[in-house]
Amino acid sequence: MLKEVSVLLLLLVFIIAAMASDPDPVMDFCIAKSPENVFECKNSSAATIEDFTFSGIKFPGNFKKTGFSSVAVNSNVFPGLNTLGVSFVRADFDVGGINVPHYHPRATEVAFVLEGKIYSGFVDTKNKVFAKVLEKGEVMVFPRGMLHFQLNVGDGPATILGSFDSQNPGLMRIPNAVFGSDIKVELLEKAFGLNSKELAKLKKKFSS
Ligand SMILES: *[C@@H]1O[C@H](CO)[C@@H](O)[C@H](O)[C@H]1NC(C)=O
Repeated sequence: MLKEVSVLLLLLVFIIAAMASDPDPVMDFCIAKSPENVFECKNSSAATIEDFTFSGIKFPGNFKKTGFSSVAVNSNVFPGLNTLGVSFVRADFDVGGINVPHYHPRATEVAFVLEGKIYSGFVDTKNKVFAKVLEKGEVMVFPRGMLHFQLNVGDGPATILGSFDSQNPGLMRIPNAVFGSDIKVELLEKAFGLNSKELAKLKKKFSS
């Protein structure tokens, strides 16, 4: 009986661990000594207000050819977030700018439109699209791991703030992950029905 109870308890712990995003903190805070070593905390006696504030998103980041710029504020750039299970991103769009289809493997995202009009959506695992135009002040949730995308449909610039339930949500941009990586050419040609010239063009475009 005791054995069965303990097996059940162990199972429960695994289920809870599998449901949670990042692990729960075990200290007030743990300012990572470096982004490469998030397991070692800076001595808490040496922490200052500067460890808990971040000034890096007052302005947009560098715009890409797609008319889009994003600045991720995760534990890599803001060590004060370490162990706290949250992070965010500022994203800016030129008129017509796009945020290419992408997903975050480790987090759900809630995006708030600070400025502009943005067609915004995600695709679920049945390939059903949920999308609409969001206006300033509106919010959309992108469930964890779901492919999502955005397009500025307004006649001015647009800005969003996305928040994540992970200190390090991860980012997989589909065009880059597929065509900008070292996946065997033969496989990509067969997968997408492309000839070598067409594929070479895409590889050139999306290799960083
Ligand atoms: C943290 O800093 C305090 C104050 O300088 C010091 O007394 C303490 O020993 C330090 N703790 C560790 C683990 O280094």
